[in-house]
Amino acid sequence: MSLAESGTIPRMIGRIIGGLFRGRPRVIEGTAALEEGTARRVEIGDTLAGSGVELILCRVDGKISALDARCPHEGGRIIPGPLVEGRFALCPLHNYRFEPATGRAQGVACRKARTYRVRESADACEVWL
Ligand code: FES
Repeated sequence: MSLAESGTIPRMIGRIIGGLFRGRPRVIEGTAALEEGTARRVEIGDTLAGSGVELILCRVDGKISALDARCPHEGGRIIPGPLVEGRFALCPLHNYRFEPATGRAQGVACRKARTYRVRESADACEVWL
């Protein structure tokens, strides 16, 4: 099997391209539609090639926060939709809940979910990866 067939070359290219944008904010449009107490899934870059990131944008108390969708417990996926009690993002694998602004798990001993800096303006937000 060649490197191209194994997916090694596309992954390498994806990482190189991803590296070019590291440290620069990515713009996500349409965030004004994200309702209070809900979460939306966003993919930035090519997540299949390993150069992208899957985010969960949450709105709590009017403010948008960005969590990495990978659960820090055992690698489940934090889901979009209504937040638990309107405040906590949920990983359905073991029902752990995470505070969107800080990534802290609620009521369990677990590492924080990764969070990203966000700045919202009008109908878009910038996220620093
Ligand atoms: S993997 Fe997410 S709660 Fe266990």
